[in-house]
Amino acid sequence: MVKAVAVMTGTQGVSGTVFFCQERDGVTSVNGSISGLKPGLHGFHVHSLGDTTNGCNSTGPHFNPTGKEHGAPEDGIRHAGDLGNLTAGDDGNVEINICDDQIPLVGPNSIIGRAIVVHEDPDDLGRGGHELSKTTGNAGARVACGVIGLQE
Ligand code: CU
Ligand code: ZN
Repeated sequence: MVKAVAVMTGTQGVSGTVFFCQERDGVTSVNGSISGLKPGLHGFHVHSLGDTTNGCNSTGPHFNPTGKEHGAPEDGIRHAGDLGNLTAGDDGNVEINICDDQIPLVGPNSIIGRAIVVHEDPDDLGRGGHELSKTTGNAGARVACGVIGLQE
């Protein structure tokens, strides 16, 4: 089993911790919590770079090793990093429980050293008809992010 963790911080009081776990050749589970969000949907993605020298803005685009368009996690055409939306409650908190087969912790498409990002707005999952729908889901500002690092 391989484990990883990302400590998420942002500029608007949004913070959290996200844990990743992959059994041998299996799906990766993503668990954790984020607080300080406005209630409702927030785009949630793995971005390609673990570079936070300019905050979350320097973490690059959605992790996309196969060169596809943006989509929903259940779509055949999606970025590997497309994890859909998190839904924050009225208290601004969200518990994360995701399983996904395109974000391995080992091998050539490993997400170790990349970043996990939560956005201000909903991800339209590529269906919004906005000029950004097919690249970012038009999910707005990056309100918190963390670099995904190996954990014992
Ligand atoms: Cu994103
Ligand atoms: Zn995407």
